[in-house]
Amino acid sequence: MKATTTPSTSTPVAHNALPPPSATSTARSSRIAPHSHIKGLGLTAEGIAAPDGAGFIGQTNAREACGVVVDLIKSRKFSGRALLLVGAPGTGKTALALAVSHELGAKVPFCPMVGSEVYSTEVKKTEVLAEAFRRAIGLRIKETKEVYEGEVTELTPTESENPLSGYGKTVSHVIVGLKTVKGTKQLRLDPTIYEAILKEKIVVGDVIYVEANTGAVKRVGRSDAYASSYDLESETYVPLPKGDVHKRKELVQDVTLGDLDAANARPQGGQDIMSVMGSLMKSGRTEVTDKLRREVNKVVKGYVDQGVAEVVPGVVFIDEVHMLDIECFTYLNALLESAMAPTVILATNRGNALVRGTIDIVSPHGIPVDLLDRCLIVKTDGYKPEQIAKVVQLRANIEGLKLGPGVLERIAQEGERGSMRYALQLLSPASILAGLAGRSQIEVEDIAEMNELFLDAKTSASNIGADGGFDGGRMS
Ligand SMILES: Nc1ncnc2c1ncn2[C@@H]1O[C@H](COP(=O)(O)OP(=O)(O)OP(=O)(O)O)[C@@H](O)[C@H]1O
Ligand SMILES: [Mg+2]
Repeated sequence: MKATTTPSTSTPVAHNALPPPSATSTARSSRIAPHSHIKGLGLTAEGIAAPDGAGFIGQTNAREACGVVVDLIKSRKFSGRALLLVGAPGTGKTALALAVSHELGAKVPFCPMVGSEVYSTEVKKTEVLAEAFRRAIGLRIKETKEVYEGEVTELTPTESENPLSGYGKTVSHVIVGLKTVKGTKQLRLDPTIYEAILKEKIVVGDVIYVEANTGAVKRVGRSDAYASSYDLESETYVPLPKGDVHKRKELVQDVTLGDLDAANARPQGGQDIMSVMGSLMKSGRTEVTDKLRREVNKVVKGYVDQGVAEVVPGVVFIDEVHMLDIECFTYLNALLESAMAPTVILATNRGNALVRGTIDIVSPHGIPVDLLDRCLIVKTDGYKPEQIAKVVQLRANIEGLKLGPGVLERIAQEGERGSMRYALQLLSPASILAGLAGRSQIEVEDIAEMNELFLDAKTSASNIGADGGFDGGRMS
């Protein structure tokens, strides 16, 4: 490590040494949005499920069973096994898996995927699985770094004429004043650090720290001297830092083994772990070999032995697991038994089905028996109309839709005839029909019109003639 006294440096700086939690988690958020009302399993301290809790309605048996699994995972007694959620479409399997991940804590990596994601022309099937497993193993790294920390009292960029173009000016350096309980200090920083300051949207009154040897800037929060009297606010307020502005500070950072693999697949300078992380942002798919994974494991093990890092096993969730084929299943068996395996949750809505990739092996849920053997199986049940009504009301609140009298009962009926998901899906188009009719509230007639316009799965199936075509049989 270089011992620079001032972070001012003209070499390119990795300001992103502290990336947001994970780029992939935001990219995947759209798949989770229909479940945004689910906040957890909603169990009491004794593990009993109330009829509804944490956004979950009914399904008490399944919720209690998942609660037991959460306890097993937390006491690290679930290794080598998997949780399998089975049940009819729309009975809340995906929702349960998300609830389990909520119960395990926000900092525990959660890596959701669908069975069919393994089929890619560029990457081997087993490779996709292996990568998902690596992404579900977190690493909490504690490092003591030399930093400048304090509340920003001054932020003055100094501009100078740009010698290369006649127009405009460029920032030649920036003066940042930092204040702590003990004293104040003025830093003269490089323009690249100014860019990082702009990116983090830092203004006077924020508490920040600047890493001395990488120049990475991190906003900790707003100084509580500026705290407002609002009850609800997105801002986090932090006290004025103690000690000197220039000091050694313990920084904690969460990454996954998958991140480290990817970063190291593109060899470039930097041996210390923070600079490895700095390269995370430049993404692009490159081959991660087994050899590289072993190397990363070795380095990680070293850090764990030194007490610098701590391994946080997370969760891999494979939805529609019957889409995997026999090769994937055998590989999954092996992965489950590997030394550093995350918790595995599988979900499927199939009954007896052919195992993909075989011609004659029919097995429950389309999963070979040797994998089924390793699973704890939890079944989700169907819903009563009043339970559907409750979920619909929850969703309507979240989506900001108003329901007129009798609408809830009507949608619940539809849900009973079709499925929970069909009932929920009626909401948004019905609100469009209501809007077209100039109303702000969904009325029973909107639902009736929906039924004229659209078919639920069962009605559609019954419209299909005996020959498998549509009425009239013009096709033949
Ligand atoms: N018990 C419940 N409480 C609250 N919301 C629920 C409940 N069960 C299901 N939902 C909601 O209903 C919708 C459908 O459920 P989900 O997607 O979990 O079904 P699934 O069992 O995964 O279906 P599939 O087999 O088709 O994947 C989701 O929006 C989910 O959040
Ligand atoms: Mg699902």
